[in-house]
Amino acid sequence: MAESMKGLRRSVRCGEVTEDMIGKTLTLMGWTQKRRNLGSLIFVDLRDRSGIMQVLFDETMIGPEGFAKAGGIRSEFVLAVTGVVQRRGGAVNEKLKTGTMELCATDLRILSESDTPPFPIEENSQTKEELRLKNRTLDLRRPDIQRNLMVKSRVAQLSREFMAKEGFLEIETPMLGKSTPEGARDYLVPSRIYPGSFFALPQSPQLYKQLLMVAGYDRYFQLARCFRDEDLRADRQPEFTQMDMELSFVDIDDVIDVNERLLQHLWKEILGIEISVPFRRMKWIDAMNRFGSDKPDLRFGMELVDVSSLVKDSGFGVFADCVKNGGYVRCITVKGQADMPRKKIDALAEFVRGYGLKGLAYIQLKEGGTKCSFAKFMTPEEISALADAAGAQTGDLVLFGADKFKLVSETMGALRCHLARELDLIDRSKYEFLWIVEFPQFEWSEEENRFQAMHHPFTMPMEEDLEYLDPSKDLSKIRAKAYDIVLNGAEIGGGSVRIHQSDIQEKMFECLGFTREQANEQFSFLLNAFRYGVPPHAGLAYGLDRVVMMMLGLDSIRDVIAFPKVKDSSDLMTQAPGQVSEKQLEELGIMFRQQKED
Ligand code: AMO
Ligand code: AMP
Repeated sequence: MAESMKGLRRSVRCGEVTEDMIGKTLTLMGWTQKRRNLGSLIFVDLRDRSGIMQVLFDETMIGPEGFAKAGGIRSEFVLAVTGVVQRRGGAVNEKLKTGTMELCATDLRILSESDTPPFPIEENSQTKEELRLKNRTLDLRRPDIQRNLMVKSRVAQLSREFMAKEGFLEIETPMLGKSTPEGARDYLVPSRIYPGSFFALPQSPQLYKQLLMVAGYDRYFQLARCFRDEDLRADRQPEFTQMDMELSFVDIDDVIDVNERLLQHLWKEILGIEISVPFRRMKWIDAMNRFGSDKPDLRFGMELVDVSSLVKDSGFGVFADCVKNGGYVRCITVKGQADMPRKKIDALAEFVRGYGLKGLAYIQLKEGGTKCSFAKFMTPEEISALADAAGAQTGDLVLFGADKFKLVSETMGALRCHLARELDLIDRSKYEFLWIVEFPQFEWSEEENRFQAMHHPFTMPMEEDLEYLDPSKDLSKIRAKAYDIVLNGAEIGGGSVRIHQSDIQEKMFECLGFTREQANEQFSFLLNAFRYGVPPHAGLAYGLDRVVMMMLGLDSIRDVIAFPKVKDSSDLMTQAPGQVSEKQLEELGIMFRQQKED
């Protein structure tokens, strides 16, 4: 039977008991991690979010009735125990903060009993994630997840304090609004009052924060929930939190400065690590050429080398034809892997095929002589010139890909990261921050057969490229005043200087294929506001979840979100999304079409 805590007050949390409390009487409350019954003594590990304290039940101290009650304790029972803190009689537990002490119980209340949990509540759980997410409340009791969420709370709190000191105002923006284009699908909410009309949940507060600048708020900050209906990945959720900011009367360097100091502050306060600023900056084109990624992981080398000019007149058709058709041949050198077995190289070829590359050519600079997959088509001199260009030496393996710029760069970039993980080349203690700058303004969409904004349509082009902002000109020449902040190969944030001149904004919509009417229909509120005095402004948003994930070196964003969704965007615990009643649908004027059979 569950007892009440009437008359009792918790003294401290379990993990907060310190040696200067020895001899004192304390009341602790928490969950039963483990119980050991040694006949005349019963030991219980009592757990709360701060840690574990060992409790000793000794019949001579607690009396026969209390001792019998202690005998009934099972895993996850919630207890209130009063007792005296003493040094452990038995062995010290080095792993616990409180490992030299125990609480010798004089009184026990069982506040709540528990069914046997479907999996053990333990750090680094081996239990399948599906089972854990179905029972997320129990999963959330695990110390590693609790630690992650405590760090996240601290990041949020420290950021708020820091931003307030820097003159940022925390202002909320609506959840129910109009679609803001960030490139993903919207989550829509039907309007009851206007059947057939919908609110869109925000993909980001982008337009609202720009309007706040027009309204004179000067510096805005918000921890904002964002919603994007897109395919999930290990670092993507359909709803996530941005640390979002916007500043007036600034340019790129001002935004970068405040953000470097913010990150420096967070790393110092939370990890005790001094990160040095300014961070490196790299142009997008250099990142693509050298790392095959717009979010390069700088914790290891293995840079891509372009050998297109060396192979364009060679006898190896795969390479020569590719270059003649406007493509590129790029390679990476894998140090000390000349003897990689054929099977492994085949597996790498399989890996790159997954990205759409048609094959993987290689040179093995073995001690006993060079082996090359395209030896038939090139002279030994040509092969050795390629190896030299790649910076390879005896003992190394050089891997080559040939295709169009984007495909070959991104695939060789992915191969670089894959190999670094497989060969354990990544120093996990490092935090490599990097700004990527000078992004292309537009990106060609094969799917839509038109140019799309790479960042979003409110991003200012670089002044020196403005002359190309015309649908009749080569839009691919325009670089944007956009920047991403990258940490250890993940994009943790991004932003840009915004367009504050209506004429440039209108040109931008034109280049993106919006008619004047379409632009007006979708963004009239913004374009109208822009008629009444707009300060130059810029901003940035972090994915808060990603910042914490990268800070803690975690592989999954689900480990820093209390109630995450799974791959198909559903919630295993509540089983959302779910059906709603006929009446609700009727009120909203919604009827379902028969789903077409495929
Ligand atoms: P962007 O779309 O780059 O920019 O988003 C900013 C940051 O939010 C994080 N993020 C996500 N995190 C988890 N799950 C997702 N599905 C997800 N999508 C994005 C990333 C990303 O860097 N309004 C602009 C910002 C600006 O220009 O100020 C924006 O939303 O870490
Ligand atoms: P194929 O002409 O397709 O038989 O390929 C000849 C060799 O070139 C094989 O070893 C392939 O793995 C390699 N190869 C084919 N396509 C590419 C490519 N796009 N990039 C690099 N190597 C390739």
